Amino acid sequence: MRIWITADVHHGMGAHPELTERLARWCLERAEPGDALVLAGDLACGDARGLAALFAAFAGFPGPRAFVPGNHDLWSRPDEGPGSLRLYEEVLPALGQQHGFAMLDTGPVRVPQDSGAGAGRAVALAGSYGGYDFSLAPLGDLPPAARQRVRAGWRSGVMDGLRWNDYVYMWRGDGRPWDHAALAAGCVARLDAQLQALEADPEVGTVVCVTHTAATREQVQQHPLARRDRPELERWFLGLSGAAGLGAAIRRSPKTRLAVCGHTHHAREHTDAEGRRWINLGCEYRRKRWLTYEPASGTLTYGTWIA
Ligand SMILES: [Fe+2]
Ligand SMILES: [Fe+2]
Repeated sequence: MRIWITADVHHGMGAHPELTERLARWCLERAEPGDALVLAGDLACGDARGLAALFAAFAGFPGPRAFVPGNHDLWSRPDEGPGSLRLYEEVLPALGQQHGFAMLDTGPVRVPQDSGAGAGRAVALAGSYGGYDFSLAPLGDLPPAARQRVRAGWRSGVMDGLRWNDYVYMWRGDGRPWDHAALAAGCVARLDAQLQALEADPEVGTVVCVTHTAATREQVQQHPLARRDRPELERWFLGLSGAAGLGAAIRRSPKTRLAVCGHTHHAREHTDAEGRRWINLGCEYRRKRWLTYEPASGTLTYGTWIA
């Protein structure tokens, strides 16, 4: 049994639609009955039709299918549509369900494993959008004025003339201002509870945890638009890349052997002292790839880049 994971498909954005078809075909031609599939967020670009088309592309996958949303999937134009909070809590889980995809934020998916190490016990797929709360950006080495500028940039969503579009397209829909850190705090708390319940479940042997945003500093790298000679801009991007609480929740789960994220479009890989693998898939707008994980042997394999 293998778990197939990709991220940042961004269906309909920045790339021709044939790229999604090729990405899906690569997986569907190789997947075997009983395998599982996880899409790690930024599936489309803020439109339900794009999402439905992407889910439909995997209708033939021969096993359980799951996803976590990305920030782009929570975009909703002000004064139109349901608002990001309702997208997250109601619309996306329901849309996934219609297409046979479980949204991991609402609960884990158990995949039977009948051979190899851990045979007889299930592999659980856990996960969350994750969000960001600026905790992955070190600020301690910056002078106080620079720290203040970075923090002001997180409040406004603008830094050095660059605008973070989530600040425009994520909104609550109930008149109250959107709060990125509050959403991340909720994601951390739910993921922690999910992982602790799986730790206590004797029928679950291994957990694979998928977040859209990064869970640790090791999973992030400077944003492609950031420059090392502009440390304030670099830290601003890092702050928007994930939440350290996600990593803390995952480290409290010895059964979690693999943690995967996307979001920054920069590949990273790291193994911690407990042998847990941390991966940032690094899929970009114009090229994508698959990661497959075989829980029985612990084997991780990257597919070729598909452009
Ligand atoms: Fe993305
Ligand atoms: Fe993202």
